[in-house]
Amino acid sequence: MIETQASAKIDLTWVRSQFPALAQTINGHPATFLDGPGGTQVPQRVIEAISRYLQRSNANTGGAYATSHNTDSMIAEARRAMADFFYCDSDEVVFGPNMTTLTYAISRSIGRDLHPGDEILLTHLDHDANVSPWRALEERGVRVCSAEINEEDCTINMQDLASKINARTKVVAVGYASNAVGTINEVEEITRLAHKAGALAYIDAVHYAPHGPIDVRTVDCDFLVCSTYKFFGPHMGVLFGKRAHLQRLRPYKVRANTNAIPNRWEWGTLNHECIAGIAACIEYLADLGRRSDPSVSSRRAALLAAYRAIRQHEHELMQRLLSGLLSLPGLKVYGIRDPKRFDLRCPTIAVRTAGLTPLQLATKLGERGFFTWDGNYYALNLTERLDIEKDGGFLRIGLAHYNSPEEVERFLAALREIVSQ
Ligand SMILES: Cc1ncc(COP(=O)(O)O)c(C=O)c1O
Repeated sequence: MIETQASAKIDLTWVRSQFPALAQTINGHPATFLDGPGGTQVPQRVIEAISRYLQRSNANTGGAYATSHNTDSMIAEARRAMADFFYCDSDEVVFGPNMTTLTYAISRSIGRDLHPGDEILLTHLDHDANVSPWRALEERGVRVCSAEINEEDCTINMQDLASKINARTKVVAVGYASNAVGTINEVEEITRLAHKAGALAYIDAVHYAPHGPIDVRTVDCDFLVCSTYKFFGPHMGVLFGKRAHLQRLRPYKVRANTNAIPNRWEWGTLNHECIAGIAACIEYLADLGRRSDPSVSSRRAALLAAYRAIRQHEHELMQRLLSGLLSLPGLKVYGIRDPKRFDLRCPTIAVRTAGLTPLQLATKLGERGFFTWDGNYYALNLTERLDIEKDGGFLRIGLAHYNSPEEVERFLAALREIVSQ
């Protein structure tokens, strides 16, 4: 892995100036975006890249004329940018409408070779987009099981997970990080355990991608998928698949799609304008990295520097937010709370409070300009497991690197006032 040792400080004034949405006001209050886990805001350059593509290069691929050539080369460059992001080769990058659709494409295709009695292992921390596509294979007689969690800190019970992998296990599909409680899972170790049993490792990195660097070579997973709208890009999904699997598995595709990878996995016409936005989003992250560590040279090294800066800033914000939340009487904070273990979580914090449902709390916060989310956010396995589904799930406060310490303080003051009413 390319890694430089320089400490990386974020230039928050520059970061915030890149995101035009952050300047909005709601009912006279500054808009405070704590809804990143549902979708982050985008830098101006992403907006411009999308409209520039539509103004100047809008065409289908593979035509014998200028705008089509531009489209082909734009997609090739976006693929290279995503290859740097994942740390893989360009032909291992598959674009699609979103993570859910890509996961159904892969699960259906893997399912063609499964037999009754084969097993798939998931976890109780997973988003339903990494649950239902695998459970759909139950109709073929495949058995789907879930690894337990440690309820106290909402981490995966690794002993239970290991005990549920056996010779019948064909796929272990887990989230890189929980979109509900922020836990970062031991994906390297989980992949190792899957491979030891001859199973494939499928990683849902949707929630992790805005917070930490991805290195598919080190994780060694067979597939990894994320959604660009969760890390400062447009509404699309992107999948990494090891070349051998993308070539070996049989996709359901139209005849006109070639058998070459990644084309055999990209059906119909892609969202070209959004792909133009994805390239711009990766360039934004790389610029952030170059600003925080001018010694980096390659785009990959710049991306790693960006994530070092993002992590450091998010840890500071998370520490401030968590200590404020833990001082509020009657508020229950889920997930890892010990600052010494912050490396094992994203700054995504789920809470519940006595007296107000998560929806009531989110509504009151929303009126004051604080955008949070309430409910299960499709992490249904978890809300059912914790038995809070019937009570409205959690309130989720999701920090991103564009949030500021002042926003956290204003948020805590508003929450304090609401819960003490
Ligand atoms: C952890 C996680 N996985 C999967 C998804 C589904 O992603 P998409 O909307 O791209 O299908 C989400 C969306 O919230 C998510 O948070």
